Amino acid sequence: MLLASGIWILCLSTIGLAGNVQRVLPFNATRSSSAGISQKISQVVPVPRQSSSLSSLGFEAYTVLDLPQFPAHQVRVKKSAFCDPTVNVYTGYLDVDYGAKHMFFYFFESRRDPAKGEGEYAFPLAFSNTTALFADDVMMWINGGPGCSSATGLLMELGPCSIDMDGSSPNGTLWNPYSWNTEANIFFLDQPVGVGFSYADYGETIETTEDAAKNVHAFISIFFETFPQFAGRTLHLSGESYAGRYLPAFASYLYDQNTIAVAEGREPLNLQSVLIGNGITDISTLYPGRYEIECGTAALEVPFQTISTCVRMKMADAMMKNCVDQFDSMDCRAAVNFCDAEMSTGYWDSGRNVYDISKVTLFSSFNMYTNNNDLLKMCVSDSLCYNEQIAIKNFLNQPSIRELLGVESPRNFTGCDRDVATNFNLHMDKWAVPSQYYVANLLERGIRMLIYAGTYDWQCNWVANKLWVDKLEWLGRDAYSAEEWRDWIVDGKKAGETKKAGMLTFATVVGAGHMMSVQL
Ligand SMILES: *[C@@H]1O[C@H](CO)[C@@H](O)[C@H](O)[C@H]1NC(C)=O
Ligand SMILES: *[C@@H]1O[C@H](CO)[C@@H](O)[C@H](O)[C@H]1NC(C)=O
Ligand SMILES: *[C@@H]1O[C@H](CO)[C@@H](O)[C@H](O)[C@H]1NC(C)=O
Ligand SMILES: *[C@@H]1O[C@H](CO)[C@@H](O)[C@H](O)[C@H]1NC(C)=O
Repeated sequence: MLLASGIWILCLSTIGLAGNVQRVLPFNATRSSSAGISQKISQVVPVPRQSSSLSSLGFEAYTVLDLPQFPAHQVRVKKSAFCDPTVNVYTGYLDVDYGAKHMFFYFFESRRDPAKGEGEYAFPLAFSNTTALFADDVMMWINGGPGCSSATGLLMELGPCSIDMDGSSPNGTLWNPYSWNTEANIFFLDQPVGVGFSYADYGETIETTEDAAKNVHAFISIFFETFPQFAGRTLHLSGESYAGRYLPAFASYLYDQNTIAVAEGREPLNLQSVLIGNGITDISTLYPGRYEIECGTAALEVPFQTISTCVRMKMADAMMKNCVDQFDSMDCRAAVNFCDAEMSTGYWDSGRNVYDISKVTLFSSFNMYTNNNDLLKMCVSDSLCYNEQIAIKNFLNQPSIRELLGVESPRNFTGCDRDVATNFNLHMDKWAVPSQYYVANLLERGIRMLIYAGTYDWQCNWVANKLWVDKLEWLGRDAYSAEEWRDWIVDGKKAGETKKAGMLTFATVVGAGHMMSVQL
């Protein structure tokens, strides 16, 4: 999901600037180094993986694991009876950077074949062509924002259970037979700190995607130390919306750290693919894409926007191009603010849901971030245009659920954290680094990429994604453009269109909105 803010943030924005961020270094400064985690990791001498079994973990209290390989970090983990009674479920925190930051995760084992192949190990595709038979892969899911919790993906989209909307379940959730853990071990991570149940003790913040990558790398590295039976398992990174900005940067950081690890004789992470749903990756195509959705027939059979608005959108887009071609933070911010308003108010006036153009909603209170009453009002519910968001927040704030999960954040849960969004926006994170460059480099190094989009999303729409994938400069570009589009079929019905060349696959999902797997 994304950004709901999408409106605001993501796709750009006009959120006001926040006050100064207080920064207090939390840990013993003599132990820390400005080089951060990656250097810490690279200095570490390989130590045999601990063989302790997770079956000894309890449901009540956390077990604390100190990891000799990662002296700046520790893991608190416990079993949980949350969400999916058919598999092992773990929740916990990775305490990174000498305990200053606490990153919350939910981990669900696969319903199919979580642990077979224990003890086996395969090297990443990019480093060798060794293959081995494996049990189910490991996948990470993150939501976007920036600032939005992966609880949305978990409880509303693809997780093992869905939030109960009609009071029919005694435990507040319903088992989801379509969950992605049907065939994959999947963890949902609240990142960066400040998001969801993740928190920092001393007000430390992460304010750019490139910075966030370091904590995510530490998290994933330590994840495999904590759950050693999954070590070496094929790893996929997935997410939506602003994750279109996050994931290419995260995967690239992992890849580069893998290269260092291999050079030093340590085991790399077995990263093999990245999946991005309705993402924002190459900002230059976002507004042309929205134009096609509103003023063309890319989504609905008849353009629904007024002609006068379409003409204004065309004019604003020309201005925006300068911003992309020649990024300058000051000039760009002014242009973005102006153009975003030009490009977006017409859509808001149409009264349609920004995540699903097929839904015309009443203007009520659109409010992705808490305490954000100055935002434009739209959509029936109070956040992300879906009532599920309110239900999830109320559910996760119940003391009994916090206890079930082992939540130790001093704050209440919010689906999207405004401070995180504001900080990223201050750095113009969406514009600062063209994420498509990461994508091209990853593809050329053998990392598979799936770019998929629901055709009814406006926010980070399919046309914008098709446009950037089409013009992506990479070695497989000619092969990709020479490929034919083909339909992909589910139960005899066309589900969308797809195209594939080399490591790159693009797919549409007909009639799906931004939060693809929501069955609404
Ligand atoms: C910081 O670490 C040093 C070296 O380990 C130790 O001597 C010192 O007491 C520590 N200071 C604090 C405040 O923990
Ligand atoms: C919650 O209740 C539903 C409906 O009775 C059930 O299907 C599901 O397995 C339960 N979930 C957990 C975690 O017990
Ligand atoms: C990769 O495959 C080729 C051809 O099958 C083989 O000659 C080569 O030894 C393999 N390399 C590794 C690292 O397995
Ligand atoms: C959390 O929410 C409850 C209920 O709305 C409120 O009473 C409490 O003050 C909130 N806690 C924090 C830390 O904001």
